[in-house]
Amino acid sequence: MALPAVLPVGVPAALPISPQRLDASVQEFGRVGALPGGGVARLALTDADRAGRDLLVARMRTLGLTVSVDAIGNIFGTRAGDGSTQGTVMVGSHIDTVSTGGLYDGTFGVLAGLEVVATLNDMGARTRHPITIAAFTNEEGARFQPDMLGSLVFAGGLALDEALALRDADGAVLGDELRRIGYAGQDRGPADMTAYFELHIEQGPVLEREGVQIGVVSGVQGISWHEITVRGRSAHAGTTPMAMRHDAGHAAARIVCGAHDMARTLGPDQLVATGYTRLTPNLVNVIAQEAVFTVDLRNPDNAALQQADAALLGIAQDVATQTGTDVTCRTLARFDPVAFDPACVDAVEHTARALGYSTRRLHSGAGHDAQMIARIAPAAMIFVPSVGGISHNVREFTALDDLVRGTAVLARLVADHAGATPA
Ligand code: GLV
Ligand code: MN
Ligand code: MN
Repeated sequence: MALPAVLPVGVPAALPISPQRLDASVQEFGRVGALPGGGVARLALTDADRAGRDLLVARMRTLGLTVSVDAIGNIFGTRAGDGSTQGTVMVGSHIDTVSTGGLYDGTFGVLAGLEVVATLNDMGARTRHPITIAAFTNEEGARFQPDMLGSLVFAGGLALDEALALRDADGAVLGDELRRIGYAGQDRGPADMTAYFELHIEQGPVLEREGVQIGVVSGVQGISWHEITVRGRSAHAGTTPMAMRHDAGHAAARIVCGAHDMARTLGPDQLVATGYTRLTPNLVNVIAQEAVFTVDLRNPDNAALQQADAALLGIAQDVATQTGTDVTCRTLARFDPVAFDPACVDAVEHTARALGYSTRRLHSGAGHDAQMIARIAPAAMIFVPSVGGISHNVREFTALDDLVRGTAVLARLVADHAGATPA
């Protein structure tokens, strides 16, 4: 297939990225916060996250990038352009993980950015636009909610002081943790962005199942996170007649089952998960006094997601009445579905095909920093297959050949959008 007309004269179609160097980067970061049986735990703003950040900053400096850290701890490494234009071409993702994470979710997108810059450096290539690699704070939302926090603040979707005041489940304050690990920066981050491309593993089964090499991501589904607190009354498990119980654990279980039944009535696109539960006092022979749990609802159709949100609250109130408990609901995150920039999406598709890769358009089931950056710049994403569709799991795996293909697409997109010229 013919290459895109925008290819700069003299820049090869497939940039000479180094699979060995890319693999070494992935393995090197896989040792930071490594778990005994495989996988990594780099929850946002923990010591392990700090170690990952320190390594990233060192790698950026070795590549000659100018490193800046903004007030929410986002890290930006910028390769200067020739000075003719300020708009940067940004790539990146996140290096925080869930506490049972794999080596690829987020980290791969950042490391692929390093590989693109290293390749351009090796080639002695100059670009008209600067190129920035971003690592955004607390994308996972596993420790502090909402998720995509750093990119959300960067995009102006959440006030900095509100973000800094967030607390984790143990009461630690985000701003304190940011200072503690030395990443409460004072820089502003790039003000002018020409485009943002995020390379990520799919984290789902579609590409592998269909034998497709590159996913062209058209957008991200809507996300709605609820924290539900049920207050009942603790009592003796052996002496309290059933009719006199106000069992918070039972009420929570009924709400969870109700949410699953409700989701099924809305069709296969409506997803529901209960990822966090905490009972108090959490003892075998004491009726639970309090239950705190989360419900993650997702749907690509915003109207359907609104329906699910409303139905969940109705279920919670009905269960409260039936069980004689008090139920309160708090929104931890609520993001509408996002459609990526059509020209950027086309560019991903065109570039992947020009490099000879099979492609498929798909919607992202997971949340990504790109959906926040899409508020302020043309953005799109590239997916590579995940073995078994497994992610948020230490067994997460993507083969090096797939990592290389994705990085080749990213490199080509960056070279085109930044206006690369060879030495
Ligand atoms: C982010 O990883 C999400 O929960 O989608
Ligand atoms: Mn991710
Ligand atoms: Mn994730």
